[in-house]
Amino acid sequence: MGKAENPFTSLNEIWANRDVLHEDYTPTEILERESERDKLAAHLAPVANGNRPNNIFLYGKTGVGKTVVTEYMLGKLDEFKDPTVDLSVVTLNCQNCSSSYQVAVALVNELHDETDQISPTGYPAETVYQYLYDELDQLGGTVLVVLDEIDAIGDDDGLLYELPRARSKGDVENVKLGVIGISNDLEFKKNLSSKVKSTLCEKELVFTPYDATELQTIVMDRAESAFLDDVVQDGVIEHVAAIAAKNSGDARQAIRLLREAGDLAKQSESGAVVTDDIVEAAKEELEASRIERAVDDLPLQTKLATLTLAFRTEASSGPIRTAALHDTYCQIARENGVERRSHDAFRDQLDDLDMLGIALRHRHNEGRGGGIYYTWESDIAYGVVRDVLDELNTP
Ligand SMILES: Nc1ncnc2c1ncn2[C@@H]1O[C@H](COP(=O)(O)OP(=O)(O)O)[C@@H](O)[C@H]1O
Ligand SMILES: [Mg+2]
Repeated sequence: MGKAENPFTSLNEIWANRDVLHEDYTPTEILERESERDKLAAHLAPVANGNRPNNIFLYGKTGVGKTVVTEYMLGKLDEFKDPTVDLSVVTLNCQNCSSSYQVAVALVNELHDETDQISPTGYPAETVYQYLYDELDQLGGTVLVVLDEIDAIGDDDGLLYELPRARSKGDVENVKLGVIGISNDLEFKKNLSSKVKSTLCEKELVFTPYDATELQTIVMDRAESAFLDDVVQDGVIEHVAAIAAKNSGDARQAIRLLREAGDLAKQSESGAVVTDDIVEAAKEELEASRIERAVDDLPLQTKLATLTLAFRTEASSGPIRTAALHDTYCQIARENGVERRSHDAFRDQLDDLDMLGIALRHRHNEGRGGGIYYTWESDIAYGVVRDVLDELNTP
């Protein structure tokens, strides 16, 4: 079909299959992570022979392959287990659950018919747990319950104690139950109560961030199926991998960067090639949209603090003291006809920005006489904040 007739074929045809760079795409092969795969296989091995499953706890930052490796190994388990083993896997992503109760309700609903869902509130906890045990008992055989992103439940971790012990307590009778917990938060395990730790973390597995070489392997593999031949210039994959490795060793981020670069290349005037410059532009675009999402959701006063800090950081050669920032803030608030907060309330806003990764806080201790004070700088360029908050005036 000619370009003139079809509005959806833009300048350059570059994609062979863009979907393999999509968030939801499950790769057919897992690259790297051999030792993690071997360890997980060893932890799962009893299930393959019909023995009692281990409870397993996996943790590591986001994008390091925890979910994909777990899914892959559970697939292998299904393929290679003793055929007489009656295995069911129940998987729940807990990201929207903030308590054990909510996880239990979500599990019950996962196991119930679509037409027989229970409401997320209103049942006594024991009733929900009983529903859950009944469902598990009905499944029978060996059941693995996979709780992904379990760190969402915070301190309310009772289920992680109850579920792994359900059989020894007699709550379930017909089922060999194993729990696989996966956490994106490295602190979560530290904060688990000690009784949960000793039951859930029977076996554990840490996923470390990917280094640049590992990311290269993963990104290269995706790029080969995603792009047409000769679209990706030499060195681009290395460049993408290096950026992601420097950031946080997150494969999801690396893949997203490559996808964004592809989208830019497709629109580019300079032909159907992904170059290092396009990767840099894509990186900036992703960074800007990350900031946009973060800043957009802030309350007005926090937006003013963000704007103040970015404005002063741009004009200054180093970090700035709270009092000086507060002066500028008052001026900006006045210009915008917004209520002015006190010095201390303003400082609390800056603390919030520090937590959000928008501000960098420096602590100074001048010893006796000088005391302790803080200076601040913005981690976001003024121009970017300006674009996001263009409804606000700066002096
Ligand atoms: N070893 C790997 N091989 C192939 N793709 C991977 C690998 N590790 C991660 N990915 C891809 O990177 C993204 C993030 O991986 P994921 O398992 O979801 O990370 P986590 O669960 O640790 O946050 C997914 O799109 C996944 O397909
Ligand atoms: Mg995950």
